[in-house]
Amino acid sequence: MDLMEYQAKELFARHQVPVTLGRVVEDPADAAAAAEALGGRVVVKAQVKTGGRGKAGGVKLAADPAEATARAEDILGMDIKGHTVRRVLLAPAAQIAEEYYFSFLVDRANRNYLCIASTEGGVEIEEIAHTNPDAIAKVSIDPAIGVDEAKAAEIVAAAGFPAEAADVVQKLWAVFVAEDASLVEVNPLVQLADGSLEALDGKVTLDENAAYRHPDHAAFEDKAAADPLEAAAQEKGLNYVKLDGQVGIIGNGAGLVMSTLDVVAYAGEAHSGVKPANFLDIGGGASAEVMANGLGIILGDAQVKSVFVNVFGGITACDAVSNGIVQALELLGEQANKPLVVRLDGNNVTEGRRILAKANHPLVTVVDTMDGAADRAAELAAQA
Ligand SMILES: Nc1ncnc2c1ncn2[C@@H]1O[C@H](COP(=O)(O)OP(=O)(O)OP(=O)(O)O)[C@@H](O)[C@H]1O
Ligand SMILES: [Mg+2]
Repeated sequence: MDLMEYQAKELFARHQVPVTLGRVVEDPADAAAAAEALGGRVVVKAQVKTGGRGKAGGVKLAADPAEATARAEDILGMDIKGHTVRRVLLAPAAQIAEEYYFSFLVDRANRNYLCIASTEGGVEIEEIAHTNPDAIAKVSIDPAIGVDEAKAAEIVAAAGFPAEAADVVQKLWAVFVAEDASLVEVNPLVQLADGSLEALDGKVTLDENAAYRHPDHAAFEDKAAADPLEAAAQEKGLNYVKLDGQVGIIGNGAGLVMSTLDVVAYAGEAHSGVKPANFLDIGGGASAEVMANGLGIILGDAQVKSVFVNVFGGITACDAVSNGIVQALELLGEQANKPLVVRLDGNNVTEGRRILAKANHPLVTVVDTMDGAADRAAELAAQA
């Protein structure tokens, strides 16, 4: 889960990272009072989960409360790279002396963590990487040791930050570890005119697999912006991602579902360019209830014209999956109203196919191969 700047700053504050929280408003009418409370001279900042807000005109200075209202009016409702601005953060205008770039992230290729830091902050790091790669320090972090005092000193020296920054670096590491983040980025981390350091921006990605040990993180979810189908799927514990297409997909195992998306996208080229409508991995136990929940979510997507159920029987054998499909269709009743193409293989496949043949449900077509089933599902979606 990606956080907005004001949320990232709330997390920073919990770990004593120097930060000014400011105030969030959703209505320009509230901006003047917020600016007044912050001392009058403020920056008005679009709160969206995408970068380059400043460049897009989403970060503006306001000299007084009246101007803060005007800037909030400009920015609220703006579209930044497809994200509608529903909230702005008002923060006191800071006296900036230096702008630095700082981040901790997961370095998957090297199986450890990485710190990227530069004294050329403020602008996008990709741009610095292009124009001045030598100005970027990359320091790898041993996960078993983390960022202790020595490591923080090493990072600060490599980056060319003032020595006092080591303390902020350790606090940002505390955020990264304690909050189970996969990214903590501060751009800019600034040195103020009085020499002190402050995180003026914050970008945090939280690892959702660790959500169970952070009940407080649920408060960061933006329910208004979340896709309603994705929210419903999450409530049912399903691994579902909505896509822009017509062929609903259900499979067991993330790898199988990913390749199902590929074959459907490929088959769709011959059928008016139909595409997969979603990713849905029902995992190991394809019980009737899980199948019904999955089908229910997919059939709730008005864009879906056909559904491809692609299952490889393993520990949960094909006969159990077939029974799950038959019972799910019974459970769903009238709600099941789109053609289903089922491809089964693996453990107990003969019995699985026999169960579906016997049920002889008018909406279900069984196709033996994955490519054949993808083609049939795409064809049915194109015809609908
Ligand atoms: N509180 C502040 N006081 C003064 N200037 C600020 C303040 N916050 C931001 N700025 C200035 O605005 C610039 C852009 O702000 P910020 O980094 O928050 O947005 P951004 O980088 O454009 O957005 P993103 O990080 O999403 O790409 C900063 O580099 C800084 O120069
Ligand atoms: Mg920034």
